[in-house]
Amino acid sequence: MTQTENTAVSFTGAVKTYGAVRAVDGVDLEIGRGETVALLGRNGAGKSTSIGLLLGLYEPDAGAVELFGAAPERSVRAGRVGAMLQDARPVPRVTVGELVTFLASRYPTPIPVARALELAGIADLAGRRVDRLSGGQVQRVRFALALAGDPALLVLDEPTAALDVEARHTFWDSMRTYARHGHTVLFSTHYLQEADAHADRIVIIDRGRIVADGTGEELRRAAGGNLVCVDLAGGEPESFGLLPGVRSVEVRGDRVRLRTDDSDATVIALAELGAIRGLEVIPASLDDAFLAITAEGGAPEGRGAVSDMRLPPRGHDQPRTTRTRGITV
Ligand SMILES: Nc1ncnc2c1ncn2[C@@H]1O[C@H](COP(=O)(O)OP(=O)(O)O)[C@@H](O)[C@H]1O
Ligand SMILES: [Mg+2]
Repeated sequence: MTQTENTAVSFTGAVKTYGAVRAVDGVDLEIGRGETVALLGRNGAGKSTSIGLLLGLYEPDAGAVELFGAAPERSVRAGRVGAMLQDARPVPRVTVGELVTFLASRYPTPIPVARALELAGIADLAGRRVDRLSGGQVQRVRFALALAGDPALLVLDEPTAALDVEARHTFWDSMRTYARHGHTVLFSTHYLQEADAHADRIVIIDRGRIVADGTGEELRRAAGGNLVCVDLAGGEPESFGLLPGVRSVEVRGDRVRLRTDDSDATVIALAELGAIRGLEVIPASLDDAFLAITAEGGAPEGRGAVSDMRLPPRGHDQPRTTRTRGITV
C-alpha cells in the first residue's frame, strides 16, 4: 500500500473478543498523520480495547491493526508512539523528574525533560515522589511520560478523567500545542464536549463498532437537523408528523417537539396552518447526534440527563486491568 506513509493508524476489520463479549467488533479506521481524533463512546463501548489493539498490547482475533504501515509493536519499540493508558499505576519511590528522565532516555529522540514537565504543567513537581501525588498530578505525570519520547503519535485513553477543571484546561492547551507541531493525536473520551472542542474529527464507537466518523458539525447534521417546538394548542399530535421535513413528533406537556430535516419548511407550514404559538427552533446538538447515532439496537429509553454533555454508561462495564508492557507507567 502506498498511502501507508501518510497513515498513522489503520484498523482493518479488527475484532477483539473477551469470551462472549465482542469488545471490538469489526473496526475499520484510518487516521492520517497530523490528525487529532477523538474516539468517543460510553463506558464499555470498546475505546480502551481499541487502544490496546492499536498499541499492540493484544493481537486482534480477526483483522489487522497497523501503525505507520507496520505492526504496532514495531512502531512502539521504535519510539514513535507515546501512550497514556486508563488504568496504569505509578511506579513507587522515584521522583517525577527521575521517572521522566528515565523514560525519555529510552527513546531515540526525546524532548528535554524540562520541556515535557512544562508541557504537562508539572515543572514544580520534578522533585516529588510519584507515589505521593494526587490523582490529578499523577495523570499529568503520565502525560509528561507520554510526551517524553517526542512521539509522532500520541495516544491518550480518557486523559482528563482525574483532572479538575483548571488542570483540564492546561491539559488540553498542552495537547493542542503538541498537535499543532504536526503530531498525530488520538484520545478517547466519554465527554461529547471534549471531543467537540479538542478534536478535528470525532469517531463514535458503540458496542465495539464505529457508528459515526466526522467533524462535530458533520455529526450534528447527520443527526437530522433541528428541533422545532410550538404550543400544542389543541392540535392533534399526529397531524404534526405530516408537515414537511418532520421526522418525529414528541409531546411534552402542552408543547410539541418536532425533529425536522428542514426547519424552515416546517415553520412555514406551521405558519400557514396558523399553528405557531411559542415558536422555538433549537439547533441539533452533538448530544442529539450521539443519541440518534447510537440509539439503534436496544439502547435503553430515556437514558437520563445528558445535559452535562457526559454520556451515560450502558451499565455493563466491569472493572479489570490492562497490561502496559512498558509503554507507560
Ligand atoms: N479484560 C477484560 N475481560 C473481560 N471483558 C473485558 C475486558 N476488557 C474489556 N472488557 C469488556 O469489553 C467491553 C469494552 O470495554 P472497553 O474497551 O474497556 O470499553 P471503554 O474503554 O469504551 O469503556 C466491555 O463490555 C468490557 O466489559
Ligand atoms: Mg476505557
